[in-house]
Amino acid sequence: MAAAPSSATASVPAYFLRRLTLTDFRCYPHLRLDADDRCVVLTGPNGAGKTNILEAISYLAPGRGLRRARFDDVVRRYSDRGWAVAATVDGTPGGGVEIGTGTMSPDPTATAPLERRQVRVDGETMRGPAALAESIAMAWITPQMDRLFQEDGASRRRFLDRLVYGVDPGHATRVSAYERAMRERARLLKSGQRSDQWVLALENTMAEYGVAIAAARRDAVARLSGVLDAAIGPFPAALVDVEGVVEAMLDGMAALDAEQQFRDALTASRGRDAETGGAAVGPHRSDLAVTHLDKGLPARQCSTGEQKALLISIVLADARVAALRTGAAPLLLLDEIVAHLDETRRVALLDQVLGMGVQAWLTGTDKDVFAPLGARALFLDVRDGAITGIQDD
Ligand SMILES: Nc1ncnc2c1ncn2[C@@H]1O[C@H](COP(=O)(O)OP(=O)(O)OP(=O)(O)O)[C@@H](O)[C@H]1O
Ligand SMILES: [Mg+2]
Repeated sequence: MAAAPSSATASVPAYFLRRLTLTDFRCYPHLRLDADDRCVVLTGPNGAGKTNILEAISYLAPGRGLRRARFDDVVRRYSDRGWAVAATVDGTPGGGVEIGTGTMSPDPTATAPLERRQVRVDGETMRGPAALAESIAMAWITPQMDRLFQEDGASRRRFLDRLVYGVDPGHATRVSAYERAMRERARLLKSGQRSDQWVLALENTMAEYGVAIAAARRDAVARLSGVLDAAIGPFPAALVDVEGVVEAMLDGMAALDAEQQFRDALTASRGRDAETGGAAVGPHRSDLAVTHLDKGLPARQCSTGEQKALLISIVLADARVAALRTGAAPLLLLDEIVAHLDETRRVALLDQVLGMGVQAWLTGTDKDVFAPLGARALFLDVRDGAITGIQDD
């Protein structure tokens, strides 16, 4: 193992999955996987079912999973019962929380899937997926995110919001409440009820949650900036900022004044919003701006490899910040990341992951590239939807 980078972090408490079960999820009729607080390395040929496991874990956080797939695609072909993912989360002082989600009814005699995905925490059905943020935090990097800095702002905004969930579990609830109010307002406006009290009430809700969302994002980028101002080995220093109309309001005024101003802007855009079916202003349009500090270049102008290194810088910085703020570092889901890094970066990444004591779930086709993890990772071979432990050679 190479020498740890000079700014390697001390080990911190970290969430880890002790047991994971998948039922009728993609290629898995039923899978049970027992882990401990070490990293988990999943290797095997293309199409073996590696990413499917990471995707299943990603549904244990709020949002639409790491592929943003439709549930029709996620449920195992030919299954008519829906899908389920469950895990025991450990690593926090309380420890041992059972969380589960899916469209499979808890009633074993049910013959049809549920219409929406349900979330259970310690056997209790929760109001929605936002509740998961109270029990676990995670961040992921997938090959699809190679285009994160080229795509439209929506992907970067979701990326930022996921980072916020880790330090501020209430953020997921606020985002879903805001989006619900926005959809309902758009529906009313489309039906011609422009001056209705209901529209005003929904604009109040949007203003209240919208300003809280903007404030939480500003806090998150401020905390991240404090950690990202220095490079860690080959992972560059970065400047992160959130760009948005409501976020900018908070530069120069108190939250209550920003709420008033945002509410007025919504009321003023009713005519336009009735036509577009959305809302012309609001934190649902904000963007995450990332700059490579040494180069002084926006991330979208950096090379593919530099962009990936920036992404890793942000995710590692977030894990450190989240650990300090909440007492537990997030789970990291790193799909095919190691194979795409040169040796220096690969060793540095594995070093960081080990140094932080996080449970990273790593996938790849070649197990040798994970050799630096040695006995500090659980090595599993994935083949045709079955998993077996790999013994040391
Ligand atoms: N709903 C589904 N039902 C059954 N099988 C599915 C479903 N969705 C996807 N699959 C299958 O799951 C298999 C494993 O996919 P996965 O993406 O996990 O592979 P992988 O091991 O990550 O491969 P790669 O190395 O190519 O990334 C694929 O063969 C795919 O066809
Ligand atoms: Mg894959």
